[in-house]
Parts: sequence; structure tokens; C-alpha cells
Amino acid sequence: MNEELKQVLKEMIEEDTLAELKISNRPDLCDYQFDGTFALAKKMHKNPLELGETIVIKLKEIPTSNEKFVKIECVHPGFINFTLSDAYINDLLNQMATKEKFNITLPKQETIVIDYGGANVAKPLHVGHLRPAIVGESIKRILKYMGQNVIADVHLGDYGLQIGQVIYGLQQEKITPDKITLEKLSKIYPKISGLCKENPEIKKVCETITKELQDGNVEYQEYFKEILKISKQDIKKMYDYLGVSFDLWLGESDAYKYIPDVTKELNNQNLIQESEGAKVIHIASDTDTTEIPPLIYQKSNGAYLYGTTDLATIYQRELDYKPNKIFYIADKRQNLHFTQVFRVAKKLERTKNIDCEFLGNGTINGKDGKPFKTRAGDTPKLENLFNEIKNIFLSDELHNENYTEKDLDCIVNSVIKFADLQNSREKEYIFDIEKFSKTSGKTGPYILYTYLRTKKIIKNNEQFVDKLSKTIYNVHDRELRIKLLGLEDALHLAFKTRTSSGLANFLYEICVLVNAFYENNHINNLEDNKKKTDWVTLLDLTTKIIQDLLDLLVIEIPSKM
Ligand code: ARG
Repeated sequence: MNEELKQVLKEMIEEDTLAELKISNRPDLCDYQFDGTFALAKKMHKNPLELGETIVIKLKEIPTSNEKFVKIECVHPGFINFTLSDAYINDLLNQMATKEKFNITLPKQETIVIDYGGANVAKPLHVGHLRPAIVGESIKRILKYMGQNVIADVHLGDYGLQIGQVIYGLQQEKITPDKITLEKLSKIYPKISGLCKENPEIKKVCETITKELQDGNVEYQEYFKEILKISKQDIKKMYDYLGVSFDLWLGESDAYKYIPDVTKELNNQNLIQESEGAKVIHIASDTDTTEIPPLIYQKSNGAYLYGTTDLATIYQRELDYKPNKIFYIADKRQNLHFTQVFRVAKKLERTKNIDCEFLGNGTINGKDGKPFKTRAGDTPKLENLFNEIKNIFLSDELHNENYTEKDLDCIVNSVIKFADLQNSREKEYIFDIEKFSKTSGKTGPYILYTYLRTKKIIKNNEQFVDKLSKTIYNVHDRELRIKLLGLEDALHLAFKTRTSSGLANFLYEICVLVNAFYENNHINNLEDNKKKTDWVTLLDLTTKIIQDLLDLLVIEIPSKM
């Protein structure tokens, strides 16, 4: 909508970054508002009102302005108001309704590996695992929607100290690999990890087991295979419940076979140095404002670390997929780790052209601001959390219908995901389970409810879905139409910033407007067929947009609510 404004600002100050049109908060007066005049006036030492008038004159000299806008005016103290022509609005909406993906332009296609989920094998799953899975899945879907060639890898944490600890615990209890169960695993890990904190001797033994496992010890490998199999099933169950899926189920352990080649190439480039018996790679640069310590590539006991496997994994991805980019979604406290790994990858000839980005996520907190706990006070196992949400939703007397399990699962998912994705990825947020389970307010159930209600109107009036005429009937109608025109910008912003919160908020705003539309414009008993056609057609487009946005936010639609 702002092409002409961009052109004018470029002419005036050689840049167009300020050329942003906001949807007006006075829809009775205009559709969009430009308030950049003030910043601009300051820059140019001019009076905002005069400057605004000049901009308006220049805008009106551009032929396309006059096709789009019926009114462009500067108002006191310097805002510029824009009103689109009804015909132009409806022409755009008709194109959105008939062309693929609502007629948005797609960015250049690239190959992107996206690494998210990252659950740790053999450790019980809890709320902390939700966020990187949900955020990652949503970003993956956005990338695909925008035409990118995407490969999703879960990158399990499957070769760290926890495996050595669990093997140690199993052996202590004389459990052979064929007797391992999920239940036993979930008890053993916390027990041994606690012991290791108290007793450095035991920790040392566990470290040795881990190292020998990595070196190929046959007995430990037997244990490892079984642990991996059982734990993976459990992890997969959680991801399935959440609608999170991966193309690749690789993990740290799969990177090991690439380490010898990586080491060779690093040595050829003289990048590895000895430091107190360990092998390290220096990556600090003169321009650093904080100290970036070297990446430890191999410990003095010969063991490889998290950074080593991540580097070897980039190497593997380059061999297999030649990606332009790799995105990583994990707890933002891993920032330094990724900075180190990415810097080494940029030095290594083979991987230097890949652009790696770390998209860190904040934690999910309880109302007390500390990591989320259930009513029972524990860090909730995921299954308990899902049940708690189900019960809270059902305890609302509004909901006495008989839901199928599948519908309830959709609703639980909507609660969790809409709570999560409406917040910027990198921020902590407070998971208020009661608030987010309600059918009113900025919640998943509210969005689903709005969708289903609108869908019902369309179903009852299907024969009216057609093309929009040139008419817009009232302010509620107009506001909804103007909002829908923002889809392309919302998608491009989500793509550019690799975050879903803008889309979640855009979706919520659409739903608020649909509800206002619904309350003020009664369709079912309308006798004016032209109006009825226009409104049903508008709602049809709206539900299709809601449907795609829900999918991008990983929210599945229940059959009823
Ligand atoms: N397993 C890691 C953790 O739980 C997350 C993995 C993130 N991805 C990666 N390539 N390092 O912290």
C-alpha cells in the first residue's frame, strides 16, 4: 500500500525506511495513517504540517495514487490520512480469493536446514521441551509457506554425559539391555545425575563410560542402542501429540563419523591449537565487545564435546544438502555455544558459505516468574500438563458438550501454542494456565471458536460464495477488509524476522474484527442478495486465511467447540 509513499520519500531524502502506513485507529476517518512526518520534519528541520502538505501534493502527482486512494490529506499537526477506494479494496480481495496463497509474492527460494526440538535422549520430557519444538515447527511451516526448500532435523541430544550416567545406573541395578523400560530410564537418570553432583568419583566413572561409548565400546553400544530406541519412541509420541514432525531424526551420535574428516580439514587450515592438553580453536576477533573464548574441540582425555558434534553436523549437512542457511532453535542461553560453532564454521573452507542463525527462545515461566510448575508443585511432565489443561477447559460450564478425545487434543494444543506463539520467541513468558484455557481473550480456544462460528455461517449459505462486488457496507465490514489486506506484509515480516508472534497477533486481530462484524451484520436473515453474497464471500475468504494462519501456528482445528 505504501509504494507511492516510498517513491516520494526516496525523492525527498533518498531513503524510504520511514514509509510505513499504519492501519488507522479511527476507521471512520481513514483507512491508513502515516505519522512519519514528525521524524522526517525533525531530520529536515521543517514544520511537520507544511512537510505533510508537500508530501500529499507529491503523492497526488503519481498516477497510481489516484487509482488506489480516494482521499489523501494532511491533518493537524502533520499526520497524513489515506482512504482507499472501495473498488480497489475489493479488487485486491478478489485476487486474494482466487490466486494461490492469497496472491502473495514469494521470496527467492533457498535451501534451509532447520534444527529444532533437540530433546535429550534418556532424560524425562518436561515443559522446557515444548518451546523449541513449537517455535521451530511454526518457523519451519512459515519457511515452507514462503516457498523455501526446507529440511527439518530434530538433532537429538543423544551422546552426552547423560547416556554414560544412565548406563552406569543400569549396570548398578544389573539391568541388561533387553530389560530396559521407559519407566526404569525415567527413574535412573535423576538418581544418577543427583549422585554425580554429590560424588565426583561417580561422575568420573560416568564420564569414562561416555568416552568409551563414543570410542565404540561394544557393550556400551548395546546399551546405547536400546536406550535410544526406547527414549526415541517416547520423544516421538510427544512430538506427534504436538503435530511436530521432522524429515531427519539425527542426533549428536550421528555426527561422530564425520569428526575425522573435519579434524583433517581443520588441521590442513591450521585452525586447531593445543591448550593444556586439550585441542581448541581460537575464534576471538578484534571487534568483539565481549570475550569470546575458544571452542574446545577435544578434551585432554580425548572426548569430544557439544561444539565438536555441532561443527561435524554442519559439515554433514553441507555434504548432504548444500544448504544456503541453517537455523537453530534452542534455549537462548546457548547463545555463546552457537556463536563459537558458527565462527569456526565460517573459517572452515567447506562450510564457510553457509549462513547459520541462532534463533534463541526464552523460557516458559509460572505466575511467580520462575520456570513453570503444576498445581502439584512439580516441574510438570508433559502428559500431566496436557491433562490439567483439558480439565480446566472442561470445568467451564460453557463446555458441557461431549467432546471426542481428538477434539480435546486439538483444544489443548491450541491453548499451549497460542499462549506461546503470541509472545516473541526470544522473550520469557508467563504461562497462566487458567487464562489461556478460556474461550475469551487472546487465547487459542477463542480463535478456534471464532473460526468454527464463521465456518458455520458459510456452510449454511454456501450457495452465496461468489465474487465481491465494488461495495463496502459499513465500518465493521470495511475494517475487516482492510485488515485482510495486511496478510502479505504480515507473512513477509514473519519470514524476515523468523518469528511467529506477528502472525499470531495478526490472526487474533482478524478474529476480533470477525466477531464485531458478526455481531453487527446479521447474515442469516438478510434479504438483500447482493449484500448477502458480498458478506458470505468476505467471510469465506476470512476463514480460509484463518485456516492457513492456524496451520502456520501448528494449531489443528477441532470438529466442534
Ligand atoms: N539437545 C540440546 C539441549 O537440550 C538442544 C540441541 C539444539 N541443537 C543443536 N544443534 N545444538 O539443549
